[in-house]
Amino acid sequence: MTKITFIESDGTRHETEAENGATVMETAIMNAVPGIVAECGGACTCATCHVYVDPDWVDTVGGPSVMEEDMLDFAFEPRPNSRLSCQIRVKDQLDGLVVHVPTRQG
Ligand code: FES
Repeated sequence: MTKITFIESDGTRHETEAENGATVMETAIMNAVPGIVAECGGACTCATCHVYVDPDWVDTVGGPSVMEEDMLDFAFEPRPNSRLSCQIRVKDQLDGLVVHVPTRQG
């Protein structure tokens, strides 16, 4: 199991155990993390699973694909560390990952 922490915009922390091979979005949904809507179910067509990757984790997580980058234009207040959580696959190297949930989606 891989530990992933979601931090809401008000500072509320959700520490989760993620399954390798699942996505960060699926982990949020399974753990009822508020603020991750995931309208399209992970097809990279809605941008409502937007998260800010904690600065300490940006290099490890890596950047978005071209398709994801295009969708991030539709996200609420995108920043350089923005990612769509349905496009981040959980793996051992992400153990301890911290992501921040935006104030709102869309
Ligand atoms: Fe729709 Fe991630 S769930 S883009």
